[in-house]
Amino acid sequence: MTYLAPTAMVGPATRLRGSLELPADKSIGHRALIVNALAGGPAMLEMRSPGEDVLSTIACLRAIGVAVEAETGPDGRHARFSVSGRPDRNAVVDCGNSGTTMRLLAGALAGLPLEVTLDGDASLRRRPMERVATLLRATGAVVTTTDGRAPITVRGRQPLAAVEHRLPVASAQLVGCAALAGLAADGTTRVVAPGETRDHTERMLAAAGVGVRREGLVTTLDGPARPRPLSLRVPGDVSAAAPWLVAAAIHPHADLALVGVGLNPTRTALIGLLRRMGADIEIVVRSTIAGEPVGDIRARGGTRLHAVEVPADEAPGLIDELPLVAVAMAAADGTSEVRGAGELRVKESDRVATTVAGLRAIGASVDELPDGWRVSPGAPRAARISTEGDHRIAIAFAIAALAGVAQGIELDDPACVSISYRDFWDDLALVQGTAA
Ligand code: S3P
Repeated sequence: MTYLAPTAMVGPATRLRGSLELPADKSIGHRALIVNALAGGPAMLEMRSPGEDVLSTIACLRAIGVAVEAETGPDGRHARFSVSGRPDRNAVVDCGNSGTTMRLLAGALAGLPLEVTLDGDASLRRRPMERVATLLRATGAVVTTTDGRAPITVRGRQPLAAVEHRLPVASAQLVGCAALAGLAADGTTRVVAPGETRDHTERMLAAAGVGVRREGLVTTLDGPARPRPLSLRVPGDVSAAAPWLVAAAIHPHADLALVGVGLNPTRTALIGLLRRMGADIEIVVRSTIAGEPVGDIRARGGTRLHAVEVPADEAPGLIDELPLVAVAMAAADGTSEVRGAGELRVKESDRVATTVAGLRAIGASVDELPDGWRVSPGAPRAARISTEGDHRIAIAFAIAALAGVAQGIELDDPACVSISYRDFWDDLALVQGTAA
């Protein structure tokens, strides 16, 4: 584990080379844990370097009575979790920084005869939860929020009503919440989203034997249903591949390979976008795990990037990657634009504001829009970046410096990367050839 000073300095790399195995996919990890808890196990889940958000889900499941035993391999990175038993305890649980933990667990708890209060850290307590409460109340669960935010209390019941949910935002966390509640519904639950979102809940539940389908923007689930236990090795997180894809796309001397990565098409929009900008990226699908395609990615630098527009309907598919997209845009010829990304304002930080502030600090020319930004390159500068404790902002601006879009940066909270990517600083040292 790299020793981290309270701040971190990152400068441009002379070249980027190497092959990385990424941390286990955070979205799939949460779902594998929660679906197996509803199944009652026994199941064995293998995950490389699970981040703090996934550890929050494990802590919450333990607090409500699910046995999750952990074992870490000799490299300190490869973890195995055995899951057994169903939730059977009332509790107040701490979701930490993880919105996905809170929203998915709320859905799972709606159909259980328990009373559980879900709380989180200061960032999570600022995020909107009334949308979850409204959705679950329609099924008959009793849900209270604190002025629309966490802590929230879910008093579940069985059976729930099978309803059609029309979601106010294109959010996979809401689709997942409604689908997990649908397991306890008497009949068919339908969830209609206003835009395409990642479909991991549907794939995981289908692999566990549940009658669930995603067709276009509609998810349908036949309840009541109990998932079967499902053991799996969670694939690498394509959102953790994203920093290296952007770094390689920008850097003139880059050749990076990312192996064993989840390549679910609802998660790979960044690859299409970078290719549209002119990047050289190849992907090969090699297998399928629990309905999820898995394979390898190779990204090479040395091409010129062109400006690009991200229209509103593309933003949900890029939601976690948009700060990195902004960095690629600041390195591209011409003026680029992102629209339809209003949801970024209610992530771990207000990511429109934190991204725009970071871009300005490194010398790019930026207009902040209500739901995105417009950016064109400027003369790279050295800057101090305020991460607001947001892992995606820390990673995006570290990559800006590594790839030379900034002359160098100092990050105020480098440790926050471990929410999703514990080994980020080690991997950064590896690809620039400075690993110990
Ligand atoms: C996630 C969904 C996304 C994403 C988050 C993980 C999930 O949020 O930002 O990191 O696992 O369902 P949305 O709910 O906005 O789609």
